[in-house]
Amino acid sequence: MKIFKRKSDLVSQIKWPRSISFIPTMGSIHPGHVSLIKKAKKKKRRVLVSLYVNPKQFNSKKDYKIYPRNFKKDLNILKKHKTDYAYLPNNKEIYSFKPQKGIFKHSIIKELCGKFRKGHFDGVLNVVNRLLEIVRPKYIYLGKKDLQQLYLIKEHIKKMKIQTKVVPCKTIRLKNGVAYSSRNINLKKKEINIASKVYKYLINIKKNLKRKKNFRFNQRNISKELINLGVKKIDYCECLNNKSLKKTENYKVNFNIFIAYYIRKIRLIDNI
Ligand code: PAJ
Repeated sequence: MKIFKRKSDLVSQIKWPRSISFIPTMGSIHPGHVSLIKKAKKKKRRVLVSLYVNPKQFNSKKDYKIYPRNFKKDLNILKKHKTDYAYLPNNKEIYSFKPQKGIFKHSIIKELCGKFRKGHFDGVLNVVNRLLEIVRPKYIYLGKKDLQQLYLIKEHIKKMKIQTKVVPCKTIRLKNGVAYSSRNINLKKKEINIASKVYKYLINIKKNLKRKKNFRFNQRNISKELINLGVKKIDYCECLNNKSLKKTENYKVNFNIFIAYYIRKIRLIDNI
C-alpha cells in the first residue's frame, strides 16, 4: 500500500487516467468502512482511502478535538484489506488551494441534521469537493448510513458536472442492530444496549407501518417511548421517502425512519 501525505506525490505517482475507486473517511476505521473497501475491491480498480478529520464539518472545537483518531491502527486495517493507496493530508494540503468547481447546495442541506448542526454539510461538501479535485476518481463509495450526506454529495457532483459516479453502500450493523460508527467508541456497554433497543423499537415500527393497514407514524408517542428506553434527547425522528428525503405517509414506497438522538452527550444518527 502506498501512503501519500502530499497531493503533489499522489498526483505524480498515480498515473493518468486514474481509474480509481475512492473512499473518503475520517479514520477510526470500523467494519462499516471496511465494507466499502471490500465492495470497491470487487471491481478491478485501484482503491484509494483518505483519512482526514475535517475541522470544517464540526460544530464545536471540542467535538473536533475529541473525535477518535488512530491512524496507525487504521493503516494496518487498510493494508489487511489490500487497499492500494492511503491519503493522509493535513489541513494545509486541503485548504490552501482554490478549487476549480464551486459547491452546489441542494435545499435539503437545511433539513434534518442541517437544522441541528449548522454549517456541518457546508464543511462536508467543501472537503469532498476538494478531495474529488485532487483524486479525480472514477467512483466514490459512500455509506447509506449517512443518507443526507450521500444525497447532498450526489446532487453536488451532478450539478457541477464532476466526472465521478456515486456508489451507495448499505449500512453495516453490529449483531444487536446498532450501526457501526466511529463515535460508538465513546459509548459504555449500557449505552450500546440503549442504542440497540432504539434500533429494535424502530425496526418494529417500520414493520407495522408496512404490514398494518391503519398503523400510522405517531411522532409524539414514538419520542416518548424512545425517552423511556434511555434516550436523552431527540433532534429529529421522521418517516421519510428515501428518494426525496421528504416526509411520507405512503408506506408502500421505499421509506425509512430517520433519527438523530443523544445518549448522554453522544449524538448518534441512523436511518432504519
Ligand atoms: P466517516 O464518518 O468516517 O464515514 C466515511 C464513510 O463511511 C461515509 O460514506 C459513511 O457513510 C460510511 N459509513 C460510516 N458508517 C457506516 C456503516 N455502519 N455502514 C456503512 N457505511 C458506513 O462521512 C464521513 O466520514 C465524512 O463526512 C467524509 C465524507 C469523509 C467527509 O469528511
